[in-house]
Formats: sequence, structure tokens, C-alpha cells
Amino acid sequence: MSGGLGLSLCDWLIENGAKYLALTSRNPQVVDAWLAAHKKNGVTIRLLPCNVTDEAALRAVHERIVEEMPPVAGAVNGAMVLRDVSVRNMSLEDVQTVIRPKILGSIHLDRIFHDVDLDFFILVSSISGVIGTVGQANYAAANAGVCSLSAQRRNRGLHSSCINVGMINGVGYITQSERNLDEAMERLAVVHLSESDFRHSFAEAIEAGQPDSPHGPEFTLGLREIPQDAANMPKWAPDPKFSHFIVRRAAEDALCAQLRRVLQQSTPNDELLEMDSTSLGLDSLISVDIRSWFLKSFQVNIPVLKIMGNNVQMLSLAELAAKNIPAPLTPDVHGQETTASAPSSVNDSSVGPSTETGNTTPTSTPHSERTASDSAHGKSEGKD
Ligand SMILES: NC(=O)c1ccc[n+]([C@@H]2O[C@H](COP(=O)([O-])OP(=O)(O)OC[C@H]3O[C@@H](n4cnc5c(N)ncnc54)[C@H](OP(=O)(O)O)[C@@H]3O)[C@@H](O)[C@H]2O)c1
Repeated sequence: MSGGLGLSLCDWLIENGAKYLALTSRNPQVVDAWLAAHKKNGVTIRLLPCNVTDEAALRAVHERIVEEMPPVAGAVNGAMVLRDVSVRNMSLEDVQTVIRPKILGSIHLDRIFHDVDLDFFILVSSISGVIGTVGQANYAAANAGVCSLSAQRRNRGLHSSCINVGMINGVGYITQSERNLDEAMERLAVVHLSESDFRHSFAEAIEAGQPDSPHGPEFTLGLREIPQDAANMPKWAPDPKFSHFIVRRAAEDALCAQLRRVLQQSTPNDELLEMDSTSLGLDSLISVDIRSWFLKSFQVNIPVLKIMGNNVQMLSLAELAAKNIPAPLTPDVHGQETTASAPSSVNDSSVGPSTETGNTTPTSTPHSERTASDSAHGKSEGKD
């Protein structure tokens, strides 16, 4: 990796103590000042030009590293060539040009370290392999392929992981590209990630790559959650593997319906959710009624004074209820405790003053509360 993300990664590894790095690409273009600055700080960086699709050449590079540098701690393949074209017009050469650096390069690297358990073996893939991106079937296939290779290596009991990187801004090919991908990415609910997000994902990949990790070798970053009733659903939305990205706003919808009923209003959800008790005109009687409704509908005990609290938006009450729904009410959600039966008592001082106390029943997180960062933290792999 000698491109934008590769050099950024080197800086980060050096900041975190790396002293020896070997970089390879067919024609690495690295500015002398960058090399000199690191050399001044006692860091050795070797530029070893090589085409990773040529196994003999890659083995020769490996031999030089073994001869001239300390033992290898980790290996990364992020080689990439793009040939964006519709499937209808895609030639075999378009497919091979894109697939070879990623898949052959990774296979060659894996063969070189076949029986060597490095501290990390990371293949840099793309979210394109998970959600599919227009004109990039070859790239998506290449990325899906490297993830499978990463899984194979893990199955052999070795460290290995694969990062399905989303859209990075500020560094890397998307930033260098003259194409404006914002609109296309917005349609796919792909969020803008920073250079720092990428670096953190690399740290996560090292962690997720442990042979005894409870998570799969693959994780994805950069997808946004979508409300179930969003006007423009991304193409990936109907695929069940993304179901945890579809935010079901059951609590919000139900609370709004209840407020409209007791207040005899027709205010739409969006407006209602932004209002607090004062703007809605909630008196203590109505607040008691809302509290009872929360108890009955969600088995969640929200104190009356919280409901009546100043500046407490109805949205935060709905979120509080959703977060504290006892596990037996969400039986289809994995990893839930199933013993809770008493109403959950909410005593969250950030929401508002409360004179009521009670034991807070530990509850687990329903689907609607899981976030993209969960996925990014390897809690939800796409294709294990
Ligand atoms: N930037 C993003 O937002 C983003 C998003 C998703 C995924 N990714 C992934 O992140 C990785 C790095 O991306 P980047 O943004 O740094 O892209 P980049 O600047 O284009 O870097 C790609 C590198 O691959 C090298 N390469 C291509 N073919 C090679 C071969 N046969 N042998 C050896 N090296 C080869 C290129 O150098 P030479 O031309 O000198 O060979 C280039 O330095 C890629 O795997 C990409 O799929 C990036």
C-alpha cells in the first residue's frame, strides 16, 4: 500500500511505535520529505517496488525483508486498480485487471505466510463488496474474494481480518478522484468517514483478527441507519442481512399516536417528537396517563416528572422507552436476557428531574438501538 490510505496508515503505525516498515507497489511514488522526516525520527521505511500479482517477485521482496529487516510482525494488502464499467460492457480484461491485484495479491501474500502466524494479516476491502455499487461488479467481486480469503486463513487458526472500508474523505483515491460520488453514496446511505475512522478501523481489524476472536474476520464500516419509513430507501434495504440498519420507530410512532389521542390533536410525528411537555401543554393528569400508557405498552416505568420535565422532547421519551423495553417483549432479538418480567424503571437524570426511584432492571438493546458503529466494531459481520 503506497497510495493515500497506505501512507496514512504508515504514519499511524509509526505514531504507535512501529520502527520498520516495508512498502510495496508497482511504482511507489512517495515524497522524499516524508521518508526523510521519518528517518530523522529513527524509523526505517523501505520502498520495494513489486507487482503483487507476480508471486515470484513478491517472494523476492519477502526475502529481502527477511534478510535486511527485523522479523515480520504483520502484513497488509490494499492494492487496488479500478475499471468501472457496466456489467453489459465489462470485458474479461476489465474483470481480471481489477480482480488480480486484490485476489492474486492476497493469495500470494497468504502463501508466503501460510504457516506463519503474524500478529496481524489484514486485507483492505471495500463496502462495495457488501452492498454493491453501480459499475463496479468487478471491484465488488474482488473485495468479496479477499474477505473469503481472510476467512480461510482464520479457519486455519491464524490471525486474519478484512476491513470493508466505506467512503473515506480527506485521503485516498476518492479524495483524489475528480468524480463527485456524494450523490451516489447518499443514495446508498454510505456515510463520509475520516482518515481517523480508517486508522481506528485498522486497530479494530488487528483486534478482530485474533484467532480466538468471537467475531468473524470481516467487518464493515460506513453504512448509515435508515428509518423504516424513509422516503428513499437504499437498494440494499430489502436484503435481510442489513435488517439491523433499518430503524424501526415503533416506540416513536406509538407515542405520537397516543399523544394525538389524549390531546386530541392532529400534529404530525416529526413535529410532536420535537416538542416538550410545555409546548404540548401536558399537565400532571395527562402526564400520569402517559406514564401508565408507557407501563402498559412497553413495560417501562418513566417517572411523571420526567415526562413533564422542561426541555424534554417527546423523542427522548420514546428513545428511553425503546432502550428499556424488557427482553421478553423483543423475543426475536439475539443476545437478550430473557428473565426480565417486572417493568423497567427508568431513572435517567439526563432526561429530567425525578422524585421516583427504583431499581433499574438491566435490559438489553433492541434492534432499533443498534448502530452502524456496532457493525464497525465487529459486532455484526455481513457474511461470516
Ligand atoms: N479511499 C477510500 O475511500 C477507500 C474506500 C473503500 C476501500 N478502499 C480500499 O483501500 C485500499 C487503498 O485505497 P487508496 O484509497 O489508498 O487507493 P490508491 O491510492 O489508488 O492505492 C492503491 C494502490 O494499489 C497499488 N497497486 C495497484 N495494483 C498493484 C499491483 N498489481 N501490485 C502492487 N501494488 C498495486 C497502487 O500503486 P501502483 O500504481 O504503484 O502499483 C496504489 O498505490 C484499496 O484496497 C481500496 O479498495 C479505499
